[in-house]
Amino acid sequence: MDSALLKTKTALVTAGPTYEPIDPVRFIGNYSSGKMGFSIAEVLAENGANVVLLTGPSNETVKNPNIQRVDVTTSEDMYKKGMEYFSTSDITVCAAAVADYKPTQVSSEKIKKEDEVFTIELTKTIDILNEFGKIKKKGQILVGFALETNNELENAKAKLSKKNLDFIVLNSLNDENAGFQHDTNKVTFIDINNDIQRFELKSKKEVAKDIVEKIITIASD
Ligand code: CTP
Repeated sequence: MDSALLKTKTALVTAGPTYEPIDPVRFIGNYSSGKMGFSIAEVLAENGANVVLLTGPSNETVKNPNIQRVDVTTSEDMYKKGMEYFSTSDITVCAAAVADYKPTQVSSEKIKKEDEVFTIELTKTIDILNEFGKIKKKGQILVGFALETNNELENAKAKLSKKNLDFIVLNSLNDENAGFQHDTNKVTFIDINNDIQRFELKSKKEVAKDIVEKIITIASD
């Protein structure tokens, strides 16, 4: 990997899940471990980049001193902090599993069980990746992930152009060892030239290396 190019670069990586509060003791979350985002941050830092790792709740730990870890809990916190760092970031990779919806109202007191059926109204969260895409300037590289169950390639391509990305990492659900809570992942890259690269099942660290290599190729163009 020709990493000289990353030595002068600043990177922002989002990772992990978000927790959307319902009341003081409950939240809506997901099973994301943060492993994919943490691995990308490590590989970028190992190649000399200065990295801000913006993460939701995760048990993963940061090893490289060139990574500044910023912890957040909710999608709104991740959006606000992300906006602080995005404009000065040369490379941004959104690997976080941000909740798509959050409770419309957050109860300030613990909700008591009363009725047989309890309904929570949910409101769409801000799509952080999409907001970054809107304000992206020439020379900034933006990478997103997609998880699709049908029309995988077509949906991923649509997301790539709608969110103004340089390339998108499509997670395959066709392998039982890929994705959430696993140490391995199986991905396909699609870039703006419609170049499609399919990879075998490999460790998230190896997937992170492939992602960083693709970033370096784009940055060298
Ligand atoms: N993402 C984000 N903020 C959100 C939701 C998603 O930044 N509120 C980013 C993720 O980090 C990831 C990509 O968007 O890079 C994932 O999008 P995905 O969940 O696959 O699809 P959506 O765009 O949310 O659309 P849909 O759920 O309809 O497939």
